[in-house]
Amino acid sequence: MCGIVGYIGKRKAWPVLFKGLERLEYRGYDSAGIALLQNGAFSVYKKKGRVVELSKFTKNQNQLSGGVGIAHTRWATHGVPSDRNAHPHLSSGGDIVIVHNGIIENYLSIKKILVGKGYRFKSDTDTEVLANLIEDIKKHTKVEIDEVVRLALAQVSGAYAILVLSKDEPGTMVVAKVGSPVVIGIGKKEFFVASDATPIIEHTKKVIYLEDGQMATIKNSKLLIKTIKNKTIKNPYVHTLKTKIEELEKGGFPLFMLKEIFEQPKSLADTMRGRIVLDKGNVKFGGLEKFEKQLRSINRLTITAMGTARFTGLIGEYAFEELAGIPTKVEYGSEFAYREAAVDENTGLLAISQSGETKDTLNAIKEAKKKGMLTLGIVNVIGSSIAREVDAGIYNHVGPETAVASTKASTSQALLQIMLAIYLGRMRFARGLSKSKAKGILKEMQKLPALAEMILKSANNIKKLAKKYKNYNNFFFLGRKYNVAAAMEGALKLKECSYIHVEGMNSTELKHGPISLIDKNFPTLIIAPIDSMYEKNKSSIQEIKARGGPVIAITSLGNKELENITDDVIYIPKTLEMLTPILAFIPMQLLAYYIAVERGNDVDKPRNLAKSVTVE
Ligand code: AGP
Repeated sequence: MCGIVGYIGKRKAWPVLFKGLERLEYRGYDSAGIALLQNGAFSVYKKKGRVVELSKFTKNQNQLSGGVGIAHTRWATHGVPSDRNAHPHLSSGGDIVIVHNGIIENYLSIKKILVGKGYRFKSDTDTEVLANLIEDIKKHTKVEIDEVVRLALAQVSGAYAILVLSKDEPGTMVVAKVGSPVVIGIGKKEFFVASDATPIIEHTKKVIYLEDGQMATIKNSKLLIKTIKNKTIKNPYVHTLKTKIEELEKGGFPLFMLKEIFEQPKSLADTMRGRIVLDKGNVKFGGLEKFEKQLRSINRLTITAMGTARFTGLIGEYAFEELAGIPTKVEYGSEFAYREAAVDENTGLLAISQSGETKDTLNAIKEAKKKGMLTLGIVNVIGSSIAREVDAGIYNHVGPETAVASTKASTSQALLQIMLAIYLGRMRFARGLSKSKAKGILKEMQKLPALAEMILKSANNIKKLAKKYKNYNNFFFLGRKYNVAAAMEGALKLKECSYIHVEGMNSTELKHGPISLIDKNFPTLIIAPIDSMYEKNKSSIQEIKARGGPVIAITSLGNKELENITDDVIYIPKTLEMLTPILAFIPMQLLAYYIAVERGNDVDKPRNLAKSVTVE
């Protein structure tokens, strides 16, 4: 939800921290700040608004010389976006400075005690409470700052990734993690700490992912990792990052969202690369090999995710039932974690998450493990919390997705679930999937990158439609069977990028109430390819037109019939019914992008949103 960055080493910290914040801004952008420790005193620069606001401080560049600093870009949880609620937060006495990603759940009770001791607070945040708790403990003990932080965290409940500096120990940075991600980059006598690897990759490829309940002390160019319960972690695993720096840039596109939409021919190919065994009519997933026996024994599947990832789960739900005969249910991560679901050790859990940091989904996985369930993951960010929490997983391999609105990850998520359904279907003997049927699907699947390329070539038609529909304030998006999920995802895309109210639903559901809203100011987009539901969708179109509602139809290339009964038609290449949503996603992504651009929105960072929601 927020982004934290720290640097300690021989360089000027400000440029490293500022650039690091720009890389993390997709995680939250209500306010930003940097604290430097120089000449035994803290200098804190923070402002409401985007990271670029901080550049106003760089007029006096020579002041910004400290070699150690921490920084933060915020998505507000406690306290409105403002200068005073921006991080970093100083303790009352100015001894401690801290940045924090997460929520301290018992901050009010701690604050009450500190107020009773005479502490005064400048902000409404839970983070400032933690800063003063650390200062208070420091005052009453004669231990070093890492031990002070450890003692403070023993009193704290909630989720946090924190970076702490003490003005009395300028060569030390303390890092701690419970529930929110932290990556430590190891340079030559310098260290980079951040919420994910994107601010680190240009400086070093050697990183350590802190685990929950761990803390790190960086002191005099040495790194010590231990648990918050004070157990030293010997030889922590050092990962070597594979991401290339150019993957983090826009590559000539005006915005990341458009770049990532146009990357989909490649990302779909990368999703399948090395995993399709056509001659056997099968799929292989290296990450699942050790779990084949357990996979054979699952007789039900729960898919858990949030937002776009959950909508792709609705595609998976149909595919797992159709291809593998496994009863499947899609659950909000936030619900599964708290309700008494009727599951047992023969129910598998499949978590879907691009960031691998969505707290609601992570909570569901932990709940599933308590119930003895086998937990699988489809995740894009390598080494993320969810990737490390599940028993077994499949990486999307689509590269960093920076725009807040998910595009290339979502088509990959849908595709991987159909591939997994084939994998499980081919494994099951009861109502198994025949080799020939599987081969037929895989052959069509391998055409998807080229079909996606064809759709992208008609992007200008969508751009024209965006100009025509940009001023409407409401939309319905409709679909049937596999395309109900596509309608819901298309609706979310347009909603989150353009701030238009859009509802996605099953086409027939319209008649059961929502149709009362239809009039000439309430357009509908309907996904109506030539498939088993085509005639039913045509009836839905007629019902809407009879009430004066404008209609955009997405239909199969070559099917001219709908041009006579709708206002606008978008064509997508014909493919199997279950693969259609993957293609239908793309024109809806483009429509959302171009309407948002027409409306002057910040498309890569829509208001109120963040790329990964690491609080529940
Ligand atoms: C996608 O466009 C949204 N930004 C959002 O719904 C996202 O899909 C959701 O928050 C889940 O994120 P995850 O895939 O990283 O878990």
